[in-house]
Amino acid sequence: MSKGTTLDRRRSPAPRRVGLLARRLLAWYDRHGRVLPWRARGAERPEPYRVWLSEIMLQQTTVATVGPYFRAFLQRWPTVADLAAAPVEAVLDAWAGLGYYARARNMHRCAQVIRADFAGVFPDDEARLRQLPGIGPYTAAAIAAIAFGRRASVVDGNVERVIARLFAVETPLPAAKAEVRALAAGLLPADSPKDFHTDFRYGDFAQAMMDLGATVCLPRGPRCDVCPLAKDCAGRAAGIADTLPRQAAKALRPTRRGVAFWIEGPDGAVLLRRRPPRGLLGGMLELPSTDWRETDWPPAEARAAAPVSADWRPLPGVVRHTFTHFHLELAVWVGTAAKGDATNAGLWVRRDQLGDLGLPTLMRKAVAHAEAAED
Ligand code: ADE
Repeated sequence: MSKGTTLDRRRSPAPRRVGLLARRLLAWYDRHGRVLPWRARGAERPEPYRVWLSEIMLQQTTVATVGPYFRAFLQRWPTVADLAAAPVEAVLDAWAGLGYYARARNMHRCAQVIRADFAGVFPDDEARLRQLPGIGPYTAAAIAAIAFGRRASVVDGNVERVIARLFAVETPLPAAKAEVRALAAGLLPADSPKDFHTDFRYGDFAQAMMDLGATVCLPRGPRCDVCPLAKDCAGRAAGIADTLPRQAAKALRPTRRGVAFWIEGPDGAVLLRRRPPRGLLGGMLELPSTDWRETDWPPAEARAAAPVSADWRPLPGVVRHTFTHFHLELAVWVGTAAKGDATNAGLWVRRDQLGDLGLPTLMRKAVAHAEAAED
Protein backbone atom coordinates (compact mmCIF):
# COMPACT_ATOMS: atom_id res chain seq x y z
CA MET A 1 0.00 0.00 0.00
CA SER A 2 1.31 3.40 -0.79
CA LYS A 3 0.63 5.96 1.92
CA GLY A 4 -1.89 8.66 1.16
CA THR A 5 -3.77 6.68 -1.50
CA THR A 6 -7.49 6.43 -1.14
CA LEU A 7 -9.45 3.26 -1.84
CA ASP A 8 -10.18 2.43 -5.46
CA ARG A 9 -13.37 0.68 -6.44
CA ARG A 10 -11.66 -0.95 -9.42
CA ARG A 11 -9.04 -2.77 -7.33
CA SER A 12 -9.42 -4.85 -4.19
CA PRO A 13 -7.32 -3.49 -1.37
CA ALA A 14 -4.31 -5.66 -0.53
CA PRO A 15 -4.59 -7.91 2.55
CA ARG A 16 -2.17 -5.76 4.51
CA ARG A 17 -4.25 -2.68 3.91
CA VAL A 18 -7.44 -4.56 4.76
CA GLY A 19 -5.85 -5.53 8.05
CA LEU A 20 -4.80 -1.97 8.84
CA LEU A 21 -8.21 -0.56 8.04
CA ALA A 22 -9.92 -3.16 10.19
CA ARG A 23 -7.61 -2.48 13.10
CA ARG A 24 -8.27 1.23 12.90
CA LEU A 25 -12.00 0.68 12.69
CA LEU A 26 -12.00 -1.65 15.70
CA ALA A 27 -9.87 0.75 17.74
CA TRP A 28 -12.41 3.45 16.98
CA TYR A 29 -15.29 1.10 17.90
CA ASP A 30 -13.69 0.24 21.23
CA ARG A 31 -13.69 3.92 22.16
CA HIS A 32 -16.77 5.24 20.40
CA GLY A 33 -19.09 2.30 19.66
CA ARG A 34 -22.59 2.69 21.00
CA VAL A 35 -23.64 0.88 24.17
CA LEU A 36 -26.84 -0.92 23.13
CA PRO A 37 -28.96 -3.30 25.18
CA TRP A 38 -28.41 -6.33 22.93
CA ARG A 39 -24.66 -6.00 22.70
CA ALA A 40 -22.28 -8.08 24.76
CA ARG A 41 -19.94 -5.91 26.83
CA GLY A 42 -16.36 -6.56 27.78
CA ALA A 43 -15.73 -10.28 28.13
CA GLU A 44 -19.42 -11.23 27.81
CA ARG A 45 -20.33 -13.62 25.02
CA PRO A 46 -23.12 -12.47 22.76
CA GLU A 47 -26.31 -14.40 23.38
CA PRO A 48 -27.76 -15.68 20.04
CA TYR A 49 -31.37 -15.19 21.14
CA ARG A 50 -30.72 -11.54 21.98
CA VAL A 51 -28.80 -10.97 18.76
CA TRP A 52 -31.54 -12.56 16.67
CA LEU A 53 -34.34 -10.69 18.46
CA SER A 54 -32.56 -7.37 18.05
CA GLU A 55 -31.70 -7.93 14.40
CA ILE A 56 -35.31 -8.78 13.54
CA MET A 57 -36.53 -5.69 15.40
CA LEU A 58 -33.87 -3.47 13.81
CA GLN A 59 -34.93 -4.33 10.26
CA GLN A 60 -36.73 -1.14 9.18
CA THR A 61 -36.80 0.31 12.70
CA THR A 62 -34.44 2.69 14.45
CA VAL A 63 -32.20 1.78 17.37
CA ALA A 64 -34.00 4.33 19.57
CA THR A 65 -37.43 2.81 18.91
CA VAL A 66 -36.26 -0.78 19.32
CA GLY A 67 -34.68 -0.36 22.80
CA PRO A 68 -37.84 -0.51 24.95
CA TYR A 69 -39.42 -3.28 22.85
CA PHE A 70 -36.27 -5.36 23.07
CA ARG A 71 -36.23 -5.08 26.86
CA ALA A 72 -39.95 -5.84 27.15
CA PHE A 73 -39.68 -8.95 24.97
CA LEU A 74 -36.70 -10.29 26.89
CA GLN A 75 -38.43 -9.74 30.18
CA ARG A 76 -41.61 -11.45 29.05
CA TRP A 77 -39.97 -14.23 27.02
CA PRO A 78 -36.45 -14.74 28.39
CA THR A 79 -35.59 -17.63 26.04
CA VAL A 80 -36.41 -18.66 22.52
CA ALA A 81 -38.40 -21.58 23.96
CA ASP A 82 -40.54 -19.16 25.98
CA LEU A 83 -41.23 -17.15 22.85
CA ALA A 84 -42.09 -20.31 20.90
CA ALA A 85 -44.60 -21.31 23.58
CA ALA A 86 -46.43 -17.95 23.50
CA PRO A 87 -49.64 -17.55 21.48
CA VAL A 88 -48.89 -15.67 18.26
CA GLU A 89 -51.52 -13.05 19.19
CA ALA A 90 -49.58 -12.20 22.36
CA VAL A 91 -46.41 -11.73 20.31
CA LEU A 92 -48.23 -9.54 17.76
CA ASP A 93 -49.78 -7.44 20.51
CA ALA A 94 -46.38 -6.93 22.16
CA TRP A 95 -45.00 -5.91 18.75
CA ALA A 96 -47.72 -3.27 18.27
CA GLY A 97 -46.18 0.06 17.29
CA LEU A 98 -43.03 -1.42 15.68
CA GLY A 99 -44.70 -1.88 12.30
CA TYR A 100 -43.99 -4.47 9.60
CA TYR A 101 -45.96 -7.07 11.50
CA ALA A 102 -44.94 -9.94 9.22
CA ARG A 103 -41.64 -9.73 11.10
CA ALA A 104 -43.38 -10.69 14.34
CA ARG A 105 -45.29 -13.58 12.76
CA ASN A 106 -42.14 -14.94 11.12
CA MET A 107 -40.17 -14.43 14.29
CA HIS A 108 -42.68 -16.50 16.23
CA ARG A 109 -42.55 -19.25 13.58
CA CYS A 110 -38.79 -19.13 13.66
CA ALA A 111 -38.80 -19.60 17.44
CA GLN A 112 -41.03 -22.65 17.02
CA VAL A 113 -38.71 -24.16 14.42
CA ILE A 114 -35.67 -23.57 16.64
CA ARG A 115 -37.44 -25.25 19.50
CA ALA A 116 -38.79 -28.18 17.48
CA ASP A 117 -35.96 -28.87 15.03
CA PHE A 118 -32.87 -27.46 16.72
CA ALA A 119 -33.52 -28.36 20.37
CA GLY A 120 -33.81 -24.67 21.19
CA VAL A 121 -30.27 -23.86 19.99
CA PHE A 122 -29.66 -21.43 17.15
CA PRO A 123 -27.66 -22.84 14.23
CA ASP A 124 -24.31 -21.09 14.08
CA ASP A 125 -23.65 -20.60 10.38
CA GLU A 126 -25.06 -18.34 7.72
CA ALA A 127 -26.35 -21.08 5.41
CA ARG A 128 -28.48 -22.80 8.04
CA LEU A 129 -29.66 -19.51 9.54
CA ARG A 130 -30.97 -18.51 6.11
CA GLN A 131 -33.29 -21.52 6.06
CA LEU A 132 -35.23 -20.16 9.02
CA PRO A 133 -38.46 -18.12 8.75
CA GLY A 134 -37.86 -14.38 8.63
CA ILE A 135 -34.08 -14.68 8.27
CA GLY A 136 -32.86 -13.31 4.94
CA PRO A 137 -29.29 -12.84 3.73
CA TYR A 138 -28.69 -9.68 5.76
CA THR A 139 -30.01 -11.08 9.03
CA ALA A 140 -28.22 -14.42 8.58
CA ALA A 141 -24.93 -12.62 8.06
CA ALA A 142 -25.53 -10.34 11.05
CA ILE A 143 -26.37 -13.21 13.40
CA ALA A 144 -23.49 -15.36 12.11
CA ALA A 145 -21.00 -12.55 12.64
CA ILE A 146 -22.33 -10.99 15.85
CA ALA A 147 -23.57 -14.05 17.74
CA PHE A 148 -21.03 -16.59 16.48
CA GLY A 149 -17.99 -14.65 15.35
CA ARG A 150 -18.27 -16.01 11.81
CA ARG A 151 -16.64 -14.31 8.87
CA ALA A 152 -19.69 -12.70 7.27
CA SER A 153 -20.16 -9.42 5.48
CA VAL A 154 -23.04 -7.46 6.97
CA VAL A 155 -24.39 -4.64 4.82
CA ASP A 156 -27.37 -2.62 5.99
CA GLY A 157 -28.35 0.87 4.81
CA ASN A 158 -25.77 2.58 7.03
CA VAL A 159 -23.00 0.33 5.79
CA GLU A 160 -24.06 0.88 2.19
CA ARG A 161 -23.51 4.58 2.68
CA VAL A 162 -20.09 4.09 4.28
CA ILE A 163 -18.94 1.80 1.46
CA ALA A 164 -20.34 3.98 -1.34
CA ARG A 165 -18.36 6.89 0.09
CA LEU A 166 -15.16 5.02 0.89
CA PHE A 167 -14.96 3.79 -2.71
CA ALA A 168 -16.68 6.79 -4.34
CA VAL A 169 -19.36 4.63 -5.94
CA GLU A 170 -21.37 7.04 -8.07
CA THR A 171 -23.79 4.50 -9.55
CA PRO A 172 -27.17 5.16 -7.91
CA LEU A 173 -28.77 2.67 -5.54
CA PRO A 174 -30.38 0.21 -5.92
CA ALA A 175 -28.40 -0.57 -9.11
CA ALA A 176 -25.15 -0.22 -7.14
CA LYS A 177 -26.16 -2.78 -4.48
CA ALA A 178 -24.19 -5.72 -5.87
CA GLU A 179 -21.06 -3.64 -6.33
CA VAL A 180 -21.34 -2.17 -2.84
CA ARG A 181 -21.76 -5.64 -1.35
CA ALA A 182 -18.70 -6.92 -3.17
CA LEU A 183 -16.65 -3.93 -2.03
CA ALA A 184 -17.81 -4.44 1.56
CA ALA A 185 -16.85 -8.11 1.42
CA GLY A 186 -13.41 -7.06 0.18
CA LEU A 187 -12.83 -5.13 3.43
CA LEU A 188 -13.32 -8.21 5.56
CA PRO A 189 -10.00 -9.56 6.78
CA ALA A 190 -9.37 -13.12 5.66
CA ASP A 191 -9.64 -15.76 8.33
CA SER A 192 -6.02 -16.73 7.90
CA PRO A 193 -2.95 -16.05 10.01
CA LYS A 194 -0.96 -15.19 6.90
CA ASP A 195 -3.13 -12.24 6.07
CA PHE A 196 -4.14 -11.00 9.47
CA HIS A 197 -4.85 -13.11 12.51
CA THR A 198 -7.19 -15.96 13.21
CA ASP A 199 -9.28 -14.49 15.98
CA PHE A 200 -10.58 -11.52 14.13
CA ARG A 201 -13.64 -9.90 15.74
CA TYR A 202 -16.04 -10.21 12.85
CA GLY A 203 -19.08 -9.35 14.97
CA ASP A 204 -17.50 -6.16 16.26
CA PHE A 205 -16.30 -5.31 12.76
CA ALA A 206 -19.89 -5.55 11.48
CA GLN A 207 -21.24 -3.42 14.31
CA ALA A 208 -18.39 -0.93 13.99
CA MET A 209 -19.33 -0.35 10.36
CA MET A 210 -22.96 0.16 11.39
CA ASP A 211 -21.99 2.57 14.14
CA LEU A 212 -19.67 4.48 11.86
CA GLY A 213 -22.60 4.94 9.47
CA ALA A 214 -25.02 5.87 12.24
CA THR A 215 -22.82 8.32 14.16
CA VAL A 216 -20.04 9.60 11.86
CA CYS A 217 -20.73 8.90 8.20
CA LEU A 218 -24.08 10.65 8.50
CA PRO A 219 -26.45 10.91 5.53
CA ARG A 220 -26.21 14.70 5.60
CA GLY A 221 -23.13 16.35 7.02
CA PRO A 222 -20.68 13.44 7.42
CA ARG A 223 -18.22 14.11 10.26
CA CYS A 224 -15.09 13.31 8.29
CA ASP A 225 -12.92 15.12 10.86
CA VAL A 226 -13.53 12.32 13.39
CA CYS A 227 -13.70 9.39 10.98
CA PRO A 228 -11.09 6.69 11.46
CA LEU A 229 -11.20 5.91 7.74
CA ALA A 230 -11.11 9.49 6.43
CA LYS A 231 -7.72 9.22 4.82
CA ASP A 232 -8.76 6.15 2.85
CA CYS A 233 -12.02 7.67 1.68
CA ALA A 234 -12.18 8.22 -2.08
CA GLY A 235 -15.51 10.05 -1.77
CA ARG A 236 -13.99 12.54 0.61
CA ALA A 237 -10.89 13.02 -1.56
CA ALA A 238 -13.14 13.74 -4.53
CA GLY A 239 -15.22 16.17 -2.46
CA ILE A 240 -18.43 14.22 -3.11
CA ALA A 241 -18.84 12.18 0.09
CA ASP A 242 -21.93 14.04 1.23
CA THR A 243 -23.66 13.45 -2.12
CA LEU A 244 -23.26 9.66 -1.86
CA PRO A 245 -24.83 7.22 -2.14
CA ARG A 246 -26.81 8.47 -5.09
CA GLN A 247 -30.37 7.24 -5.18
CA ALA A 248 -32.53 6.47 -8.20
CA ALA A 249 -35.76 8.48 -8.18
CA LYS A 250 -38.30 6.73 -5.98
CA ALA A 251 -41.72 5.77 -7.29
CA LEU A 252 -44.42 8.06 -5.93
CA ARG A 253 -46.64 6.61 -3.24
CA PRO A 254 -50.31 6.50 -4.17
CA THR A 255 -52.98 7.50 -1.66
CA ARG A 256 -55.56 4.97 -0.53
CA ARG A 257 -58.73 5.66 1.37
CA GLY A 258 -60.86 3.78 3.84
CA VAL A 259 -63.42 4.20 6.60
CA ALA A 260 -62.87 2.92 10.15
CA PHE A 261 -65.88 2.37 12.38
CA TRP A 262 -65.86 3.48 16.00
CA ILE A 263 -68.72 1.35 17.30
CA GLU A 264 -69.94 1.82 20.83
CA GLY A 265 -72.03 -0.82 22.57
CA PRO A 266 -74.87 -0.01 24.95
CA ASP A 267 -72.46 -0.13 27.91
CA GLY A 268 -69.95 2.20 26.23
CA ALA A 269 -67.48 -0.53 25.21
CA VAL A 270 -65.92 -0.28 21.74
CA LEU A 271 -65.85 -2.98 19.08
CA LEU A 272 -62.45 -4.19 17.89
CA ARG A 273 -61.58 -7.09 15.66
CA ARG A 274 -58.51 -8.96 14.59
CA ARG A 275 -57.38 -8.55 10.99
CA PRO A 276 -56.91 -11.67 8.88
CA PRO A 277 -53.56 -13.34 9.54
CA ARG A 278 -52.02 -12.48 6.18
CA GLY A 279 -51.50 -9.15 4.52
CA LEU A 280 -50.93 -5.67 5.83
CA LEU A 281 -51.23 -5.45 9.65
CA GLY A 282 -52.02 -9.17 9.46
CA GLY A 283 -53.24 -10.57 12.78
CA MET A 284 -53.33 -7.16 14.45
CA LEU A 285 -56.26 -5.63 16.32
CA GLU A 286 -58.16 -2.88 14.55
CA LEU A 287 -61.22 -0.72 14.62
CA PRO A 288 -63.30 -2.54 12.01
CA SER A 289 -62.59 -0.85 8.70
CA THR A 290 -63.44 -1.04 5.03
CA ASP A 291 -60.84 -2.06 2.48
CA TRP A 292 -58.28 0.61 1.64
CA ARG A 293 -58.45 1.60 -2.00
CA GLU A 294 -57.54 4.49 -4.23
CA THR A 295 -61.10 5.53 -5.02
CA ASP A 296 -63.37 7.31 -2.55
CA TRP A 297 -65.93 5.49 -0.45
CA PRO A 298 -69.44 6.73 -1.28
CA PRO A 299 -71.43 6.69 2.01
CA ALA A 300 -73.80 3.95 0.91
CA GLU A 301 -70.93 1.65 0.05
CA ALA A 302 -69.11 2.33 3.31
CA ARG A 303 -72.36 1.68 5.24
CA ALA A 304 -72.71 -1.67 3.48
CA ALA A 305 -69.12 -2.56 4.44
CA ALA A 306 -69.67 -1.82 8.15
CA PRO A 307 -69.87 -4.87 10.46
CA VAL A 308 -73.11 -3.59 12.06
CA SER A 309 -75.80 -1.21 10.98
CA ALA A 310 -75.99 2.02 12.90
CA ASP A 311 -76.93 5.63 12.58
CA TRP A 312 -73.43 6.67 11.46
CA ARG A 313 -71.87 10.03 12.19
CA PRO A 314 -68.77 10.69 10.04
CA LEU A 315 -66.19 12.68 12.00
CA PRO A 316 -64.62 15.71 10.36
CA GLY A 317 -61.07 15.21 9.03
CA VAL A 318 -59.15 12.02 8.34
CA VAL A 319 -56.39 10.02 10.00
CA ARG A 320 -53.25 9.95 7.88
CA HIS A 321 -50.66 7.21 7.95
CA THR A 322 -47.90 6.25 5.56
CA PHE A 323 -47.06 2.64 4.77
CA THR A 324 -44.14 1.55 2.63
CA HIS A 325 -46.12 1.52 -0.59
CA PHE A 326 -48.94 4.00 -0.05
CA HIS A 327 -50.36 6.82 2.02
CA LEU A 328 -53.61 6.10 3.78
CA GLU A 329 -56.42 8.52 4.58
CA LEU A 330 -58.78 6.88 6.99
CA ALA A 331 -62.12 8.50 7.76
CA VAL A 332 -63.66 7.60 11.12
CA TRP A 333 -67.38 7.04 11.49
CA VAL A 334 -69.03 6.86 14.89
CA GLY A 335 -72.08 4.72 15.59
CA THR A 336 -73.84 2.88 18.37
CA ALA A 337 -74.62 -0.81 18.05
CA ALA A 338 -77.91 -2.10 19.33
CA LYS A 339 -77.92 -4.67 22.14
CA GLY A 340 -77.06 -8.15 20.85
CA ASP A 341 -75.83 -6.73 17.59
CA ALA A 342 -72.34 -7.59 16.43
CA THR A 343 -71.89 -10.49 18.80
CA ASN A 344 -69.80 -12.29 16.19
CA ALA A 345 -68.20 -9.23 14.69
CA GLY A 346 -65.26 -8.91 17.06
CA LEU A 347 -64.53 -8.22 20.68
CA TRP A 348 -65.93 -5.53 22.91
CA VAL A 349 -63.28 -3.64 24.78
CA ARG A 350 -63.78 -1.24 27.67
CA ARG A 351 -62.68 2.27 26.85
CA ASP A 352 -60.14 2.41 29.66
CA GLN A 353 -58.47 -0.74 28.31
CA LEU A 354 -57.90 0.52 24.79
CA GLY A 355 -54.51 1.97 25.71
CA ASP A 356 -53.22 -1.37 27.07
CA LEU A 357 -54.01 -3.36 23.97
CA GLY A 358 -51.62 -4.02 21.16
CA LEU A 359 -53.03 -1.57 18.67
CA PRO A 360 -50.87 -0.75 15.68
CA THR A 361 -49.91 2.90 15.28
CA LEU A 362 -52.52 3.60 12.61
CA MET A 363 -55.29 2.34 14.90
CA ARG A 364 -53.94 4.32 17.85
CA LYS A 365 -54.27 7.41 15.69
CA ALA A 366 -57.83 6.44 14.76
CA VAL A 367 -58.74 5.95 18.44
CA ALA A 368 -57.21 9.34 19.28
CA HIS A 369 -59.18 10.91 16.44
CA ALA A 370 -62.46 9.47 17.74
CA GLU A 371 -61.68 10.46 21.32
CA ALA A 372 -60.69 14.00 20.33
CA ALA A 373 -64.07 14.42 18.64
CA GLU A 374 -65.82 13.77 21.96
CA ASP A 375 -64.04 16.59 23.78
N1 ADE B 1 -28.79 -2.16 13.06
C1 ADE B 1 -28.97 -3.46 12.79
N2 ADE B 1 -28.26 -4.24 13.60
C2 ADE B 1 -27.59 -3.41 14.44
C3 ADE B 1 -26.69 -3.61 15.50
N3 ADE B 1 -26.33 -4.83 15.86
N4 ADE B 1 -26.20 -2.53 16.10
C4 ADE B 1 -26.58 -1.31 15.70
N5 ADE B 1 -27.42 -1.05 14.73
C5 ADE B 1 -27.93 -2.10 14.09
